[in-house]
Amino acid sequence: MIKIAVLGYGTIGSGVAEVLDTNREIITERTGQEIAIKYILDLRDFPGDLHEDIIVHDFSVIAEDPEVRIVVEAMGGVEPAYTFARTALLAGKHFVTSNKALIADKGAELMAVAKEKNVSCLFGASVGGGIPIIRPINTCLTADIIEEISGILNGTTNYMLTKMSEEGSEFDDVLKDAQQRGYAEADPTADIEGFDACRKIAILTSLASGRRVDFQDIHTEGITKITATDIKYAKALGRSIKLLGSSYKKDDSYLVMVAPYMVESTHPLYNVNGVFNAIFVKGNMLGDAMFYGSGAGKLPTASAVVADIIDIAKNPDRHITLEWSAEKLELTDFREYVSRYFVRACTDQKAVEAAFGSVEYVRIADVDDELAFITPQMDGFAYENALSELSGVRQSIRIK
Ligand code: HSE
Repeated sequence: MIKIAVLGYGTIGSGVAEVLDTNREIITERTGQEIAIKYILDLRDFPGDLHEDIIVHDFSVIAEDPEVRIVVEAMGGVEPAYTFARTALLAGKHFVTSNKALIADKGAELMAVAKEKNVSCLFGASVGGGIPIIRPINTCLTADIIEEISGILNGTTNYMLTKMSEEGSEFDDVLKDAQQRGYAEADPTADIEGFDACRKIAILTSLASGRRVDFQDIHTEGITKITATDIKYAKALGRSIKLLGSSYKKDDSYLVMVAPYMVESTHPLYNVNGVFNAIFVKGNMLGDAMFYGSGAGKLPTASAVVADIIDIAKNPDRHITLEWSAEKLELTDFREYVSRYFVRACTDQKAVEAAFGSVEYVRIADVDDELAFITPQMDGFAYENALSELSGVRQSIRIK
């Protein structure tokens, strides 16, 4: 039997207990031994809960108990998760987390401590919820140079954009709905401003490059400015609007950004709807691959956490290596990204063509007080210059 402690008995923590309870037999069979929760750390008590007797309020009980081999963190946020993670690793315990904020900020450091103490630090649930993407990048695509990762990495915003598209609803109404369904972060700003996707693409790029990507360096745009009118234009163009976290290999670096895109119907990400996530990966030998599945929610995320626990339970006496050094990766300026742009502006044709040259105009019913158009291919520097020459700009979205 291997004993674990779960930190946080909220959505994910209680999900971990539920997965272990529900699939106990098959998990024991696959692991070769039983996985037992010895403690659950939470500030609250849970009278009447199946696990009420193992709730503790003091982390030192866990840190100082040599029987606890794996500490599973499901609290979210950087502190106190980081202090608990470090303490657990230094005490020679393995560490598993679903916490992208913690890993994006402290991943390289925690990995180094884990290596030094010959234990593992796994975080498969931190990106893509239940989708196995960390392990494939780390262990299956090792023969490839990863040239592109483009992902729908946030379930809340994808759910919102899908609903806006299907029902013509406005932003604020669909946000409330996503929060009620438990998809959004405690502070939904992290979802809608793209910060959550930013941390996730930072983690994926760190693993793809083997170096530390500072999420603060990533250009990040959210979806707060996307309106029902933009969605109508996207439909008229046969495209869907998606918030993508993208990473493109450029020589010895990566160009990384988070932004909404109008995705064309032939792209594999076009049809990824609702709370689903998908991560498109292009390898120099593999070509294109796509990983698709439930990107948020209690049981999908808990399933990925338990998969990491099982991995460690099968390898209790060694450090499972993840390529992620402390050396910083200097990112390529996001303005080197070349694309076409969809623009809406309250202006005239002469001004548009003076700024952008020859463009493709788009018209939809009921909107007659603006011009909407698609620019030629241009890099971000040229685009910013052209845009600064045009007045009355209402919207601009990259085309993919
Ligand atoms: N708020 C996140 C999302 C949860 O919507 O994807 C999963 O990381």
